[in-house]
Amino acid sequence: MQEREQWASKLGFILSAAGSAIGLGAIWKFPYITGQNGGGAFLMLFLLFTILIGLPLLLAEFSIGRAGGGDALTSYKRLAPKTPWFGIGILGLVTCFILLSFYSVIGGWIVIYLFKAATGSLAHVQNANYDGLFASIIANPTISLSMQFIFMLITIIVVAKGVQKGIERMSKIMMPALAILFFILVVRSLTLPHAIEGVRFLLQPDFGKVSSQTILEAMGQSFFTLSLGVSVMVTYSSYLSKKESLPKSAISIVIMNIAVVLLAGLAIFPAVFSFGMKPDAGPVLLFHVLPSIFSQLPFGMFFFFLFLVVFLFAALTSGFSMLEMIVAIITKGDPNKRRKWSWIIGLGIFIVGIPSALSYGLMADFKIFGKTFFDLADYAVSNVLMPIGTLLIAIFVSWIMKKSTVYEELSEGSEMRKGIFQAWYFLLRYIIPILIIVVMVNVLRQV
Ligand code: PFF
Repeated sequence: MQEREQWASKLGFILSAAGSAIGLGAIWKFPYITGQNGGGAFLMLFLLFTILIGLPLLLAEFSIGRAGGGDALTSYKRLAPKTPWFGIGILGLVTCFILLSFYSVIGGWIVIYLFKAATGSLAHVQNANYDGLFASIIANPTISLSMQFIFMLITIIVVAKGVQKGIERMSKIMMPALAILFFILVVRSLTLPHAIEGVRFLLQPDFGKVSSQTILEAMGQSFFTLSLGVSVMVTYSSYLSKKESLPKSAISIVIMNIAVVLLAGLAIFPAVFSFGMKPDAGPVLLFHVLPSIFSQLPFGMFFFFLFLVVFLFAALTSGFSMLEMIVAIITKGDPNKRRKWSWIIGLGIFIVGIPSALSYGLMADFKIFGKTFFDLADYAVSNVLMPIGTLLIAIFVSWIMKKSTVYEELSEGSEMRKGIFQAWYFLLRYIIPILIIVVMVNVLRQV
C-alpha cells in the first residue's frame, strides 16, 4: 500500500478546513434561519455557541484526527482499541451521506442560477418577480435533478483526484475570492435605501422571541457551519503534519467562519428590508434576494455571475469534505481505490438525494412529521445527528482518550498553556455535554 497523503502546507489545511466550514451554512442557511428566528437574538446565540462550544469541539476533533492519524473509523479504533467508540465514525459516515444528499440539491440551485446569469435570462425578469421565477424552476424535476447531478459530478471528480491535488488546490483559490466578492456585495447592500433596518434586524437582539427551539437551532447552526460532529474535521486533521499547531489553526478557522457569517448577514438583510421582502421566507430566501440586489448594481449580472461562481465553490469545498470523509473510511487511505469509490459513493448519494430534490415540486405534498423530505433530512442532520455526534466526541476526548496524549497533541508546534488546556478540558468534560443534553431534552419534551 502506498503512503498516506498529507496536506502540502499548513495554509492548505487551514483553507481546506475553512472551506469545509464555510459553505451553504453561512451563506444560505444562516440568513434564512436568522430571518425565521427573529434576527439579532439568534445571531448572539449563534456567536455564543460558536465560541463557547464550537471552537472547543473543533479542537477536540483535531486532536482525535491527528493523534489517531487515520480515517475516522481507524482513528477511533487506534485511540480506544476493542471498544465500540468507533461507532462515532459510523455515525459521521451516515450523517455525511444524508447531509450531502440534500446539500447537493441547494448546490444544484446555484448551478441553475449560474446558467441563467450566464445566458442573461435573469436580467429581463418582469417586475423583478424572482420569487415566481425561482419557484417555477425548482419545481421542474428535470432541471433540479440534472443540476444536482452536476454538483455531485464536480464533487466526485475533485475528491477522486485526492487531497493535495484536488481539495487543497481548489480551496486555496476559492476562499480568498469568496472574501473579496462578499465585500463588494456588502457595500452595495449597505448603501441601499433603508438598509439600516436590515442592519438593525441583524444586530439588535430581541430576546422576547427566543424559545427553546431557537436555542436548539442556534446550537445546531453553529455545529453545522463548523462541520462538527461528523468527524469530517477528524479526517482533515489526520492529513496534517505533526509540526503544526492545532489550537492556532482552529482559531483561524473559527474567525474566518464568523467573518463570513457576518458578511452574509450584512449582505442579505439590508437588501431584504430595502426591497420590502419578508426575512422569514425560508430556504428560498437567498435565491429571491440575490438577483434583486445585483440587478441594482452597474454590471449587476456580471457581478452576480462572479458571485455565483464563488458561492458554488464555497458549497463545493464543503461537499468535498463530506465525500472525502466517507471515501477515506471505505478506502482506508489506499490511493488506488480512491477513484472507484469516489464514484460509487458519490452516485449513491445522488440517488438518495432525489426525493429531497423533488421536495419543491413533485413531492411537495409528501410530508413526514409535517415536513417535506428535504426539510426532514435537514432537520434530522442539524438538530439531531450532529448534536449527538458532538456530544459523543466531547465525551470521547475528555473521558476516553488519555489526558496526556491530548495535551501533547495540542502542544505540538507550539506549547499550549496549562491553564488554557485545563479550562478547555473542563468545558469538554462537563459543560458541553450537559449543555447539549439540556438543549436537546428541552426540545424533545415539547415535540
Ligand atoms: N459547514 C458546512 C456549511 O456550513 O455549509 C456544512 C458541512 C460541511 C457540515 C461538512 C458538515 C460537514 F461535514
